[in-house]
Amino acid sequence: MSNATIELPKLYDSAADFMPLLGTDYLELYVSNAKQAAHFYKAAFGFQSHAYRGLETGSRELESYVIIQDKIRIILTSPLKSGTDVGKHIEKHGDGVKVIALWVDDATYAYEEAIKRGATHYMKPTLEEDESGRVVRSGIYTYGETVHIFVERKDYNGLFLPGFRKWETPNYNPKSTGLKYVDHMVGNVGWNEMNTWVKWYEDVMGFENFLSFDDKQIHTEYSALMSKVMSNGNGRIKFPINEPAKGKKRSQIEEYLDFYEGSGVQHIAVATDDIISTVSQLKARGVEFLPPPPQAYYDDIPRRLGEHKSMMKEDMKELQKLSIMVDADEEGYLLQIFTKPVEDRPTLFFEIIQRMGARGFGAGNFKALFESIEREQANRGTL
Ligand code: FE2
Repeated sequence: MSNATIELPKLYDSAADFMPLLGTDYLELYVSNAKQAAHFYKAAFGFQSHAYRGLETGSRELESYVIIQDKIRIILTSPLKSGTDVGKHIEKHGDGVKVIALWVDDATYAYEEAIKRGATHYMKPTLEEDESGRVVRSGIYTYGETVHIFVERKDYNGLFLPGFRKWETPNYNPKSTGLKYVDHMVGNVGWNEMNTWVKWYEDVMGFENFLSFDDKQIHTEYSALMSKVMSNGNGRIKFPINEPAKGKKRSQIEEYLDFYEGSGVQHIAVATDDIISTVSQLKARGVEFLPPPPQAYYDDIPRRLGEHKSMMKEDMKELQKLSIMVDADEEGYLLQIFTKPVEDRPTLFFEIIQRMGARGFGAGNFKALFESIEREQANRGTL
């Protein structure tokens, strides 16, 4: 597709932002074996051991491991008995993202404002305290069974949250792979639901729709989807929302919805300053990526880079060797690559992204990317 269709964001009036968000606080994944998942994210992705709660800390129902890498903080939670909400979530959806936690100044205000504007309640403002101070958290539902938790931690100087203790693993601490922060998180929603959730993010959270792609722009020979990117006022939080569109065969979004059994988080995009180094390390540690785009894709990159060609520092041969994709918009270029799903069901995956000025999402790569995914779907018998 042509990059000329990208509308750049308007300038935001921060005084008018009724839901000021300071950033992503943490992501919580409900998984069937948190202990083993934590080991995988450490070994394969270079996360560090950080905090723990479980039987030893008095948590009788749930066990959680908190892992970090620079500003990325992930909690992996599993049930310790049958019949828990966490267990039911895993039974239905498989391993996946339950919580996208947002860092705020005032979690009570954020909750009340969101509820007033139509959000569905998940967790009333709740004060948690320990010797390191106090944290207030509250929560609302977003698409599917996914929730946003507002975290107010200005009066807290502990490790993570009350109830967690330091998780130390003196014998095994693999090096970071250079992942820095969460760039964006994408949600897949059901047929004809994208605009409902776009409006929800506008009305309830004060987000703006700053990029849109329709099925004429995002399609392959076989399948199509539509996507709108929502951003909060200061631009730190970006949530693209996808819905399936009609095609000759089943799109990757439908495959996701079938296997996740509903709407949910499709991918977590994490940023690096050096994608060649990061992806080389991830591959060496066993992270699996989508199959590479064809040679013709790489032949076309100079054209797609246009005026940004001269500023590109990376060696094209090296990018191609690692199957890294390149796209450009008015403001610069970006480098990105996508993992295969990181659990048994073909649902959640990761994107590794390096932004060199570009603020888009790799629209110029969509076709090649979706063709790679379709090859994987064909192998799974789900195309
Ligand atoms: Fe993405």
